[in-house]
Amino acid sequence: MVLINLLLPCLLFLTSGLMVQAACNGHDELCTRQYSNVSFVGAHDSPFVGPLPQQNQGWSVTEQLDNGVRFLQGQTHRAPIIGTLNFCHTSCFLENAGTVRDFLTTVKTWLDANPNEVVTLLIVNGDFVPITDFENEFDGSGITNYTYIPPVSPLAINAWPTLQELITAGTRLVVFLDYGADISKVPYILDEFAYFFETPYSQTDPTFSQCKIDRPSNATASGRMYLVNHTLNVNPLDLGILIPDRDNAATTNSPASIEAQANLCSALYGRNPNVMLLDFVDQGDVIGAENGLNSL
Ligand SMILES: *[C@@H]1O[C@H](CO)[C@@H](O)[C@H](O)[C@H]1NC(C)=O
Ligand SMILES: *[C@@H]1O[C@H](CO)[C@@H](O)[C@H](O)[C@H]1NC(C)=O
Ligand SMILES: *[C@@H]1O[C@H](CO)[C@@H](O)[C@H](O)[C@H]1NC(C)=O
Ligand SMILES: *[C@@H]1O[C@H](CO)[C@@H](O)[C@H](O)[C@H]1NC(C)=O
Repeated sequence: MVLINLLLPCLLFLTSGLMVQAACNGHDELCTRQYSNVSFVGAHDSPFVGPLPQQNQGWSVTEQLDNGVRFLQGQTHRAPIIGTLNFCHTSCFLENAGTVRDFLTTVKTWLDANPNEVVTLLIVNGDFVPITDFENEFDGSGITNYTYIPPVSPLAINAWPTLQELITAGTRLVVFLDYGADISKVPYILDEFAYFFETPYSQTDPTFSQCKIDRPSNATASGRMYLVNHTLNVNPLDLGILIPDRDNAATTNSPASIEAQANLCSALYGRNPNVMLLDFVDQGDVIGAENGLNSL
């Protein structure tokens, strides 16, 4: 009897531990949800980490993932002279966050250690680098095995697999590129604008009072997932140079602010945003906002 009294709580503890592990992106409810029906908070310029005006994040890429962020966006450029493909902000002289390969290796290491998590990358191809150069970096990092390849192109919005299906198939990395995707050459790097529309960037209105379609131009919302740029910029000294508004990040990234814009969008398009793209995901309560959007 004593033994049972001792063992039972242990068993319950173990079982609940296993259940937590088996959840998809941390929630059982998300396992049966189609990828296209999940809302994610996204780290804008995920690799640009630090205190400088050209840096958009306070947590490292691994910390972003460890803290629940499952959508990472970043801008790539060809590094001058050495010619590697790097994550750089506008130019590699302004901000050079290292090679795409190192970034992908970091994400792969994290995926290896977290088998029930689905992660999305949105890569910006600032220099229109050929798609096969991206393929080299994916292959070199060993992450290619995790990528998801849709069975048809483009996959209809209502035909996406559930998170559990992605996890079971081991294809837990969904990759989009803004310009230059070519699935005839690299089938797992998907054309962002075949799947998404975006709202305008470089917002300086702290109330985020619009949810217009900005890219692709003339697109309709129908049949597309969508990404909302909920990143606030300021124009210090009135020089016309916009920089991320670090001082107000906690307010910008509060569930109240994120959900207010998401609700505005939802009223226009009949469904929640797929991605709320954010600077400084270490500020505010971005996972609280994400859970709210997913009704968790
Ligand atoms: C991908 O996975 C397969 C089977 O699991 C394995 O044989 C192969 O070596 C892996 N490739 C890479 C690049 O990790
Ligand atoms: C919205 O943000 C994404 C990610 O930074 C960026 O690629 C895009 O350029 C932004 N939209 C516009 C219209 O600039
Ligand atoms: C968008 O529509 C306008 C007005 O019909 C047209 O002038 C423009 O060329 C279109 N842009 C694209 C990229 O199709
Ligand atoms: C997911 O589906 C529910 C129910 O139709 C809807 O309310 C919600 O806005 C959808 N979310 C996304 C991101 O499509």
